[in-house]
Amino acid sequence: MEHPDTHSLVTRQRRSVLITGAQGQLGAALVDVFATDAVTALSRADWDVRFPAPPDLASPDLVLHTAAWTNVDGAEDDPQGAAEVNVGGTAHAAELGAPIVAYSSDYVFDGRKGTPYVESDSPNPLSAYGRSKLHGEAAAGEQAWIVRSSWLYGPTGHNFVRTMLRLGAERDEVAVVDDQLGCPTYVGHLASATRELVYSSAPFGIWHLAAAGECTWADFAEAIFEGAGLDCRVKRITTAEFGAKAPRPAESVLRSEKDAPELPQWRDGLSECLAALGAAR
Ligand SMILES: NC(=O)c1ccc[n+]([C@@H]2O[C@H](COP(=O)([O-])OP(=O)(O)OC[C@H]3O[C@@H](n4cnc5c(N)ncnc54)[C@H](OP(=O)(O)O)[C@@H]3O)[C@@H](O)[C@H]2O)c1
Repeated sequence: MEHPDTHSLVTRQRRSVLITGAQGQLGAALVDVFATDAVTALSRADWDVRFPAPPDLASPDLVLHTAAWTNVDGAEDDPQGAAEVNVGGTAHAAELGAPIVAYSSDYVFDGRKGTPYVESDSPNPLSAYGRSKLHGEAAAGEQAWIVRSSWLYGPTGHNFVRTMLRLGAERDEVAVVDDQLGCPTYVGHLASATRELVYSSAPFGIWHLAAAGECTWADFAEAIFEGAGLDCRVKRITTAEFGAKAPRPAESVLRSEKDAPELPQWRDGLSECLAALGAAR
């Protein structure tokens, strides 16, 4: 089914695309993938999304809203602060009046389903961050693709791959959680899938876009060390042993029951990321 607003987006010659959080890891990947459009890439300094858009900002054809409070444990200490960015910020981005991609998370689920989550499954977030993302979905309005993804990483920013590369070079052994299952998703692949989604007249609504395959954080760490040629062992520990502040879903594999663009396997994303970092063995 095609929505009239999405149709005009597809047929327009040169689209104006506004990207929030453009200096974040996904924002940077979107800037690359949408480079043939007229992109306005905004950092937090350009627009703090807790406040309405600057008055001189023209309404674009498309908004890619990645700006977010992404400190999952920090949100437990300051849930209101996380909500100001993830709920209020999304409402402000939607107020621009253009079709919007609002990114959300596997952490809207409680992880107890036992099989992969599809778009129609009921959310039940365990953490303040998850709640803020779920409320942010509702704040995105009616002209929104809610794109849920998971375990993002890329060549820039704070992420698990970059942390493991640093620790793996410093230590003989790293303790990594082995009882959470998910889909580590390369931001370059998510950015390409986003472009495919919005320019294929996909209807607004919730879409699950995550890497194919699944693994635990410990599996992921081993693949990182292997791919980078680092001689570091992975000590497999439990979530309880790790002791993070915020609860995480035990199994939050995302799959699509709709005709969503398919992303490559997580191992392929890892290879691309290591190559981009110049860290492949
Ligand atoms: N990371 C994950 O594993 C993951 C998983 C699933 C979904 N997501 C979602 O995917 C989206 C992108 O995540 P990401 O990993 O690319 O995050 P990221 O690297 O942390 O980037 C987020 C960006 O938002 C900016 N930002 C924070 N508060 C802001 C504010 N008040 N106004 C304007 N900008 C602000 C940050 O700027 P500063 O650097 O100045 O703080 C940063 O550049 C988010 O919606 C996130 O919730 C992430």
